[in-house]
Amino acid sequence: SQCLESLLPLRQEMVDVDPQQYASGNIPSEKQPLDARFFWLPEEQLAAYEKHRDASELGRIFNVANGMHDRLDAVVTLGIGGSYMGARAMMEACCDPYHNELSRGRRGSKPRMYFEGNNVDNDASSALLQRLAAGSCEDTAVSDRWGICVISKSGGTMETAVAFRQFLAALEKSLDKDAASQLSDFVFPVTGESGKLHDLATQIGCPEIFAVPDGVGGRFSVLSAVGLLPAAILGLDCMQLLAGAVEMNEHFKNAAPEDNVVLKYVATNHLLEKHRGCNIRVMSVWSKALESVGMWYDQLLAESNGKEGKGATPLTTVNTRDLHSRHQQHQQGHADKVFNNVIVKNYRTDPLTVGHSDRNQDGLNDLADKTLPQLMDAAIKGTNEALHADGRPTTDIVLPTIDTHVLGQLFQMLMIATVIEGRLLGINPYGQPGVEQYKKNMNKNLGRA
Ligand code: PA5
Repeated sequence: SQCLESLLPLRQEMVDVDPQQYASGNIPSEKQPLDARFFWLPEEQLAAYEKHRDASELGRIFNVANGMHDRLDAVVTLGIGGSYMGARAMMEACCDPYHNELSRGRRGSKPRMYFEGNNVDNDASSALLQRLAAGSCEDTAVSDRWGICVISKSGGTMETAVAFRQFLAALEKSLDKDAASQLSDFVFPVTGESGKLHDLATQIGCPEIFAVPDGVGGRFSVLSAVGLLPAAILGLDCMQLLAGAVEMNEHFKNAAPEDNVVLKYVATNHLLEKHRGCNIRVMSVWSKALESVGMWYDQLLAESNGKEGKGATPLTTVNTRDLHSRHQQHQQGHADKVFNNVIVKNYRTDPLTVGHSDRNQDGLNDLADKTLPQLMDAAIKGTNEALHADGRPTTDIVLPTIDTHVLGQLFQMLMIATVIEGRLLGINPYGQPGVEQYKKNMNKNLGRA
């Protein structure tokens, strides 16, 4: 509780920043507490949104996304790091796990979504280019129509820029057949207010270029157009996503320290790191759908706070899967880990039972009436008990279910927590000087200035 109390001035510092300052974009970097003007959207404004729909950024996002649902079979989302991980996390968490198969060849359903521009992997890019060229409509008379959602704040990131060049060329080729098609109708850019991508998108004639707000770093941008445009393309409920984030802000600002999930998360993890050497921060997700949310957090924590020889090392495990791989080490290896369980209380689908079998060679008939969620509960409890018996600390973050509203809360909780932790460590959570270094070296190795 002492640690929780000591966090209050930090909370105050974050709450004190005038939201209007965001709009001006005039916030010194050490004063970017919640890091996006979107996050401050007061509830009245959310409620009034419908009235200002067309003028608002969200309205523009919806217009573009809705416009493509009827005419595109697939969208390739290009981006890396903070310009990629949030969108993928939302797709994997909130869409049907077989979204891309369900949407196959059925124009009018939500487009399939593929992610590229997050690597320079020859086979991966080739395979996707070939898949797009071949099409996948069951009706072979109809070829696939696809578009590109290209996301890069700087507009100059090598991986994304190279992929954009390649996929744009392929897109142009695919449109040749239909003279009436305009390239600009198939390209949906999200970028900074100036830069190479902005110039290129302007030259192509893209009617909408969505902005990454100036003061918002990539890994804090999931609730801006960076995450919202792909989410809207997938048909996810962006309003609920933002509403969840707003609720988390209110909770963070107003809840007593002992009830405040953000402060409790920070205090527990920080104290364990400082006094018990728990330098490895395991996010142990108990749902396959949350693996990419874990990866999103990996990036957030690593890139924000891994500086000056400080910062916990994030690691995502998906359970029960990884109980059969990493768990042995986690249970009995170095005692340098804290396990933050992310537990889902209600799954979206009806519980499946193990079922009765007359054969019963597998000896499971005693479990016939048990459901998978019941097995999962037993595994979570059993794993926590085992870890505690070996003196390994755990926390439980319980999600009522997995939907955009809950995800908005979780994203926001972890973003605020990361900034507070950065402050506690005495480092600036924004910027990524180490990443810049590899980029310079890569360019040098390619013979560029
Ligand atoms: O969090 C960050 O700032 C980074 O991970 C960036 O998002 C990443 O490097 C991509 O940058 P950009 O959007 O400029 O292409």
